[in-house]
Amino acid sequence: MTLSLKPMTTTSFVTEVVNVDLSQPVDAATASALRAAINQHSILVFRGQTIDNDQHVAFSRNFGDLEIHTVKQYLLPDYPEIIALANRGENGTTPIDNGGAYWHTDISYKAKPPMGSLLYSLEVPPEGGDTLYADMYAAYDALSDAMKENLEGLRAVHGYEARFSRMGEGGKRPKLSAEQLAEVPEVTHPIVRTHPESGRKALYVNEGFTLGVEGLPLDEGRDLLDALNAHATQPQFIYAHHWRAGDLVFWDNRATMHCATDYDTRYARTMHRTTIQGDIPV
Ligand code: OGA
Ligand code: MN
Repeated sequence: MTLSLKPMTTTSFVTEVVNVDLSQPVDAATASALRAAINQHSILVFRGQTIDNDQHVAFSRNFGDLEIHTVKQYLLPDYPEIIALANRGENGTTPIDNGGAYWHTDISYKAKPPMGSLLYSLEVPPEGGDTLYADMYAAYDALSDAMKENLEGLRAVHGYEARFSRMGEGGKRPKLSAEQLAEVPEVTHPIVRTHPESGRKALYVNEGFTLGVEGLPLDEGRDLLDALNAHATQPQFIYAHHWRAGDLVFWDNRATMHCATDYDTRYARTMHRTTIQGDIPV
């Protein structure tokens, strides 16, 4: 099947996939066309979808094995592959409003961070609660040659607790148990990574989970990370997704960051995310 793609940004960053019904199994040709599309576009938007948990998981598995999140209190009891971002909770999950309201790349604090995430909206507020996405290829490309050279070979330290220790707060993220923390020791990743499929270079640092730069004094490393974050979140690199119920957004964690935004919490917001395992960044 030929995918029908409708660009949503003037660059190749975000595209809508118009002709795929996610409640149906996709054939091998469609799965590989979608894989090519996510490598080219970084963000794929599917609208007007009605899928259950099995269909969400089945569609996600076309792109790899699924990651089971460390923070078990957010996982749907019968579907550990699905993390519920639900401000009222769901089936006993811990409620989250605005859990990701800082720039981050999902689970970059693991040695093998996920390649992608698929977020499906069930209930959304009438306004607010958009998710912002930053194009980390474009952010890298726009750096000066001197800065690109300066970053070559540098590695950032990533950790789950980074947000607590750097910003003095964790958003709404819970503290981990000792056992959970043991699953996520600090790791380092290159600040500039080469995408394993597109071959393009992307910035790979984020406000939420990067703590410092290996080999640099703490304050110097943080200053560099802050400058890179400020650079990457300039308006020309950002796409704001305004959710409708029934949207599924599939993003490439290897080339993007994202950030939740505020909304009036008198409204229910219920989202489900699956997460696809990835490679060690190089
Ligand atoms: C996520 C996330 C932001 C949002 O699902 O990984 O950060 O707006 N979501 O819900
Ligand atoms: Mn996230």
